[in-house]
This record gives sequence, structure tokens and C-alpha cells, in this order.
Amino acid sequence: MTEKEMTVLDLPGVGAATAEKLAESGYDTLMAIAVSTPGELVESAGITETVARKMINAARNELKMGFESGEQVLKRRERVIKVSTGSENFNKLLGGGFETGAIIECFGEYGSGKTQIGHILSVSAIKANPDASVIYIDTENTFRPERIIELANGAKVDPQKVLKQLKVARAYNSDHQLLLADKVEELIKENKLNVTVLIIDSLTAHFRAEFVGRGTLAERQQKINKHMHTLLRLADTHNLCVYVTNQVMHDPAQFFGDPTKAVGGNIVAHASTFRIYLRKGKKGSRVAKLVDSPNLPDGECNFFVETEGLRDV
Ligand code: GTP
Ligand code: MG
Repeated sequence: MTEKEMTVLDLPGVGAATAEKLAESGYDTLMAIAVSTPGELVESAGITETVARKMINAARNELKMGFESGEQVLKRRERVIKVSTGSENFNKLLGGGFETGAIIECFGEYGSGKTQIGHILSVSAIKANPDASVIYIDTENTFRPERIIELANGAKVDPQKVLKQLKVARAYNSDHQLLLADKVEELIKENKLNVTVLIIDSLTAHFRAEFVGRGTLAERQQKINKHMHTLLRLADTHNLCVYVTNQVMHDPAQFFGDPTKAVGGNIVAHASTFRIYLRKGKKGSRVAKLVDSPNLPDGECNFFVETEGLRDV
């Protein structure tokens, strides 16, 4: 680090006007620029690609974003917060809970509990840290403050506090959803929010409804890719637990085992740090199966969704 900390204005090719345009699009820190793509900067500040590349490189150099030792990575992992699900089994499956700095995807059929988990994480994050906020992007109109009150009472945390610190937006279509995700940065900064969890419920429903037919697949995937990129950057720069839900569709090519697969294909699968498959189990229970994780073994657990929260089987 230099004596005086470097700002966006110190980057090559950035004058006051450019800095302002960049800031308007959320690129107001070196980190935001360092993890952006040249295309994004070109679009937001109207600069050339060459200038954008130089800026990104300078920001990366300043932040020493090359290789680091495993020890340093471990040190950085200390900031990770694990948000409890209220179910001991489920927490154990995830190495302690839904972690920050990651995208966690739950996919499963209707009624499998994806939305319930979003509500539970909201309550749990604020219970663990009374200063925390949660941002909820609701695409299916299934966010219910009444449900938050029930779960907060179940978790013995003040429901009014949780409702106050939950910022909810309804996304009316996929473009609106992308726009809201882009606005999260601004929301955090302007209100100086200490956000632990960002929820997108559902990540894929609008895309699935709007882009029908083979001819639209490429465009759809491109948009989802951009969305995932935004979410990854948010998870990284603000140490957020990004919880996304996803539906499943019938896969006729699968003859053996479970004939369902997640919507969104490889793009969503690869961008998600942890992937959990939810399904209905025996006697009204739910089964969560960890299908992808960077550091945990695959496994399963069972629990019940109840009025007060999750209960272990
Ligand atoms: P889709 O969004 O339709 O794909 O489903 P989802 O996976 O989001 O399902 P969701 O999380 O909405 O789960 C709904 C189920 O949770 C219900 O069918 C109930 O079984 C259960 N549930 C929801 N609220 C309550 C509650 O207050 N008490 C109890 N006991 N169960 C509840
Ligand atoms: Mg739902």
C-alpha cells in the first residue's frame, strides 16, 4: 500500500467526469473496477476498451490481485460468516450454515422449501447480528412479511426489527431483475448497510417464462451469465451470502435416477459455489442434498418445515 490510499481518480485515464460516470454505475472503488470486465466499463463510462483495460490492470496491481499464498487465503476466509438454517443437520451438511462470500443455489420442485429457506435466512442473519441487513429480490411475489413474523417469533428475535432491516424489491421481469441486482451496490453504499444475505427468489423463473423456444436460448444464457457475474462480484466485494433459488425441469434424456435437472444449465451451476437439491421426503419432511461444494463432502439431510422454522427429523 502507498502512503495515501489510491482512489479511482488515481487510475490512468480517469478524470473527474469519468470517475463520476463510473460511480453512477457502482464502480467507485478500486475493487469494483479490478473485478469488472473491460466491456462493463466501456458501457458505463463511454471510454475505449484500451483505457478500460489499463484501468483494470492498474487497480489489480494496486490491490495486489495476483497470486497469494494459501496462508493468506486462509486468513481471508476468517471473515466468512455462516448463517444458520435453524436445523442442526442442515447446518452440518453445509459446514456450519449458508456462508458469506459465496453464491448458494437451492434447486427443487414446487413446494420443496426454497422460498421458506429464504425467509429463514433473513431472520437468522439478523438474529446473529442485530446490525445486519438482508436484501430480498422477489420475482414470484412469494415474499410474505407475515411469514417473517412467525419465523422471527420462532427464533426469538424481534419481528419488527427483522422487517425493518429487510429490504425487499419485487422484480416484474428479467430486465427489472437485472436492474435490481445492479442497484444492490448503490443501496448498500447509500444507506451504509451491513448486508449479510442477498436473496434472489427465483433466479430463473422470469428468464424461463420470457425466453421460450430454441432460438432464444443463447440470449437467455447470456443474460443469466451477466446476472451471475453481478452476483458473484457482490458476494466477493461485500462478503455477502447470495442465496438463489432455481426450479427444476424434467429431463427426458435421464432414464436412471432422478429425472430432473436445474434450470439455467451450466452457467448457473458453475457460478454457484454451493448447490443444494431440495426435494420432498417421507411424511412431509424435506431432503436437502449437497451436490456441489468446493470443500465439503456430498451428503444429505432431512428436516421439517414448520411454522417456527426448520426442525430436524
Ligand atoms: P416454488 O416456489 O413453488 O417452486 O416452491 P418452493 O420450493 O419455494 O416452496 P416453499 O418454500 O414455498 O414451500 C412451501 C411449503 O412449505 C408448503 O407446502 C408447506 O409445506 C411449507 N410451509 C410454508 N409455510 C409453512 C408454515 O407456516 N408452517 C408449516 N408447517 N409449513 C409451512
Ligand atoms: Mg418459491
